[in-house]
Amino acid sequence: MTDAARATRFPEGFLWGTASAAHQVEGDNRNCDWWEFEQQPGRIANGDTSEIANDNYHRYREDFALLRQLNQNAHRLSIEWSRIEPSQGEFDARQIRHYRDVLGDLREQGIEPMVTLHHFTSPIWFASKGGWSAPDAAHGFLPFVRHVVDQLGDLVGLWCTINEPTIYGANGWVFGEFPPGRKGDVVGLYSVTSNMRKAHELAYGAIKRKWPDAPVGLSHHKLLFLPASDRRRDRWAAQTSQMVLDRWPVAPGQLRRIVESTCDYIGIAHYWGQMCAFDARRPRDQFIRRFNVPGRPVTDMGLSADPSWMRTVLNELRELGKPVYITENGLATGDDEWRSRYITETLANVLLAIGDGVDVRGYFHWTNTDNFEWARGYSTRFGLIDVDRKSLERTIKPSGHLYGRIAAANALPD
Ligand code: BGC
Repeated sequence: MTDAARATRFPEGFLWGTASAAHQVEGDNRNCDWWEFEQQPGRIANGDTSEIANDNYHRYREDFALLRQLNQNAHRLSIEWSRIEPSQGEFDARQIRHYRDVLGDLREQGIEPMVTLHHFTSPIWFASKGGWSAPDAAHGFLPFVRHVVDQLGDLVGLWCTINEPTIYGANGWVFGEFPPGRKGDVVGLYSVTSNMRKAHELAYGAIKRKWPDAPVGLSHHKLLFLPASDRRRDRWAAQTSQMVLDRWPVAPGQLRRIVESTCDYIGIAHYWGQMCAFDARRPRDQFIRRFNVPGRPVTDMGLSADPSWMRTVLNELRELGKPVYITENGLATGDDEWRSRYITETLANVLLAIGDGVDVRGYFHWTNTDNFEWARGYSTRFGLIDVDRKSLERTIKPSGHLYGRIAAANALPD
């Protein structure tokens, strides 16, 4: 094999998947805080709601058959806590049966499930007791985790305890875009991320006691902040932003300990980057002005993206010495040709990072089907598969076919 050929191939056993979240695709998920939030006027773009979403709760077989058609060998999905435990301490056996069917069907299709236990939604009973900022939040989550571990664990391939604590906390407590819709509550943000850290540690223990060989981690939203210039104050601005927004849910200095003791792998979601400049006129923004990177394309989320940043963020993880799964990466755009280019170039950068010595074991594209993009509703599209909003008919986009070919070849096209 020539060097050039070798550079286009991924390691044997590489996981090729897509990622999704229950509330964004299932539909009729009424028992969670997001459902209530959506009913408040002005919360969601165009007044969209998750009422039907993609009706994946009933059409999961069709969706998984499409994944099979795209040669996927893995899929990341979440189990909806508010369905399994609709009232505190009461578990719904019918919903357990449903998720056994869901995970069983994935397995029958030859697709390994990565199961997320919390992806932005919480039961109403939990939210009404203060949700993730309440002092005992982590222990409130644990009975659900234990139940899933007992009842579904035999079908799970990899576990992802919690999705993106920093983004969840910032959107819910600082920017007001997610329930509970609080703004500027930095103390709340800190409570949320530290409670989620505790919840992750407790969940790690609960899973490992029963399934010691199953890899367990969480998904961390990995941003990239670049200094606007070489000046010291701009470098400070970038480092400060990175420190505040791009952290595992840990207190300063704890990163290594937590990764070493309760993460079998590092999961990262990477989408975007921004520049940071010191700005004395912005005391309310910690004297930092953030803006999109000049010359880089801006996605429908309003943030700049560049495939080469994937190599940079992966290399930041190298010294932690753990296997890495890219739990999410994708592009918010209606321009599917751009999505195809972005996928190929991002994956080329994943290969470069593997060459640099980062132990990347899998890539989960966000997302398979266009779906309910939280506060942005259905107008922001990340999917490899289009979903007609009236008929809910699914159509694979050219980017989906391309991704399917890459997965089948375990290599990039020449
Ligand atoms: C979240 C997804 C979301 C995606 C695109 C991630 O931070 O985990 O739920 O749809 O970003 O915004």
